[in-house]
Amino acid sequence: RKPVILDCDPGHDDAIALLLAFASDKLDVKAVTVLAGNQTVEKTLHNALKVLSFAGITVEVAKGAAKPLMRQLQIAPEVHGDSGLDGPVFPPPTLHPSPDSAVDLIARVLRNSDQKVTLIPTGALTNIALTLLAHPELKEKIERISLMGGACFTGNWTPAAEFNILVDPEAARLVFDSGIPITMCGLDVTHRALIYRDEIERIRRIGKKVPTMVAELLDYFFIFHRKMGFSGCPLHDPCAVGYVIDPSLITTKACHVDIETKGEHTLGTTVVDYYDVWKKPKNAEVALGIDRERFIELLIQSVQYYD
Ligand code: BDR
Ligand code: CA
Repeated sequence: RKPVILDCDPGHDDAIALLLAFASDKLDVKAVTVLAGNQTVEKTLHNALKVLSFAGITVEVAKGAAKPLMRQLQIAPEVHGDSGLDGPVFPPPTLHPSPDSAVDLIARVLRNSDQKVTLIPTGALTNIALTLLAHPELKEKIERISLMGGACFTGNWTPAAEFNILVDPEAARLVFDSGIPITMCGLDVTHRALIYRDEIERIRRIGKKVPTMVAELLDYFFIFHRKMGFSGCPLHDPCAVGYVIDPSLITTKACHVDIETKGEHTLGTTVVDYYDVWKKPKNAEVALGIDRERFIELLIQSVQYYD
């Protein structure tokens, strides 16, 4: 089983990404860390604890960055509601947060692991950047970073930028420049990783409490995306987990990727050198295609695993 750390800002799709990871017999989730993004870090921490407790999962969960490296925090209540996870009603969490910070927990897991560990960030890259700054020697313990963020050809929070990268472009730049193998699951695939109404109903009909909660998360998450014109609900963050479970689900192209940290209209853009015009080292596998049907089947099977 591949050891992984999930770093997230739940967030509807982050919550589903967590459930996908914990249901997989291919992954060994060593820790969950959270940070501010979709909502404040207090709320994303509470949401992670609520979802994991509700699903009966026990894991160490640590609180991370309350704000980006150099900028004001931007949050997304338009997408995820005031709680960051509006929709289903959860009982109070039974899991408690780790006394360690996210950076300390990530560093401890990396240090103590015999195998290299895969990091799966599905929020801004602040916690990962802070870990690399504080513990550069631990870089070699990282197998790969499979992240949800960026895009080759579009934005969602501005016309040019995707939300996770836009929230902390400096952190993203540091991570993309780190030399660690990166898979960038951006909007080019996540906007095709759509779950349709009838598939959401299939999940609801499973009739157990966790699948019902997932259907309610998707009902809520769909509202924002329907207004954007989507015919299905994009499963952004689960793509980054899906790639680690089964890389054959997603096709990628090795490219040089840089992060725009100054642009007037393009702040937070992942500048992907798709045609290799710069001839610079290729620092990321950029996700471009997804086998949607197989991905949705994996998700539905995974959700079924829970009570
Ligand atoms: C990303 O932004 C967040 O709102 C989602 O959780 C996802 O990680 C999509 O742009
Ligand atoms: Ca997220």
